[in-house]
Amino acid sequence: MSVLRSVVLGCGSYLPERVLSNQELAAKVDTTDDWIVQRTGIRQRYIAADGEVTSDLAIQAAKAALASAHVDAQSIDLIVLATSTPDNTFPASAVSVQAGLGITRGAAFDLQAVCSGFVYGLSITDALLRAGGYKRALVIGAETFSRILDWNDRTTCVLFGDGAGAVVMEAQQQPGTRDDRGVLTTHLRSDGRHKSKLYVDGGPSSTKTVGFLRMEGRAVFKHAVAMITDVIEDAFRTTGYTAADINWFVPHQANRRIIDDSAHKLGIAPEKVVITVDQHGNTSAASIPLALNAAVKDGRIKKGDLVLLEAMGGGFTWGSALIRW
Ligand code: UT7
Repeated sequence: MSVLRSVVLGCGSYLPERVLSNQELAAKVDTTDDWIVQRTGIRQRYIAADGEVTSDLAIQAAKAALASAHVDAQSIDLIVLATSTPDNTFPASAVSVQAGLGITRGAAFDLQAVCSGFVYGLSITDALLRAGGYKRALVIGAETFSRILDWNDRTTCVLFGDGAGAVVMEAQQQPGTRDDRGVLTTHLRSDGRHKSKLYVDGGPSSTKTVGFLRMEGRAVFKHAVAMITDVIEDAFRTTGYTAADINWFVPHQANRRIIDDSAHKLGIAPEKVVITVDQHGNTSAASIPLALNAAVKDGRIKKGDLVLLEAMGGGFTWGSALIRW
């Protein structure tokens, strides 16, 4: 019996021009290239230009995704933008993306789940597409974390960067077999008891300011691997797939050690893990689509591959998604 599924038609990404190396950072704060590489795997990050806002990055990524999907912007009737660094408190930056792409129909909104934003966005979009109200969607993760970093705090400013990534998804009837393409399952979690371990110390309703990112890195690290593996085991339980069936593991790119430990615990072979954190640091909601696009572009991820995504971040929020590409 045929089943309606959300199939990924294409993906794209965008990184700002300006590259900030570890060496440059070490000249500004008390850190070293060695420390950053050893503890995180990060070698450089990208920083948005003055006046370049989150929706600008998102529009570039969306255009690249539309081109790779070979579809026209006018065929998009849903835009979900995952971001914690919107252009303004409101309106949603998603409507700026919509206007920037010349789209005047359908719906566009922002979604805020910090580093888990892209997995949350994918899950919500999958549900909306399968419900039948929308046909073709853009799911975007875009961030300008450089604007909420305390550049005097070496424990956070070395970790994050700016960037954007996007996928085009379409509701398609699939045969209802093991070979079905599209989103096979998603699992979302949150636990607000951990909200003070990673947060921004400002906001419209509290301080009336934007604020700066604050993190108890060691405490986040302590929870990350357990939460990530737990929600991936949910994906395996639901679908009957195992680590051996996975073609590509595309995790949130926060820290190389978290990625390696998670893959090891799950029994996913290192050669199946897509890693881009060295190139762009932690770009929060943008990190998964940036990594996805890198692996699609260089020919690793191909049509029919089983692709496993996971993310974990502020809130805490965390989640997984299993996709037949
Ligand atoms: O995407 C959202 C989720 N976020 C994450 O997944 C981040 C999770 N956390 C982490 O990735 C790691 O905890 C960090 C990379 C943030 C830190 O690594 P760590 O191995 O947990 O280091 P630590 O916080 O235990 O700090 C070790 C030492 C401390 O010095 P003492 O107290 O041992 O003397 C820090 O003060 O490293 C020091 N330190 C630094 N040294 C040089 C902290 N930041 C720096 C720095 N350069 N940038």
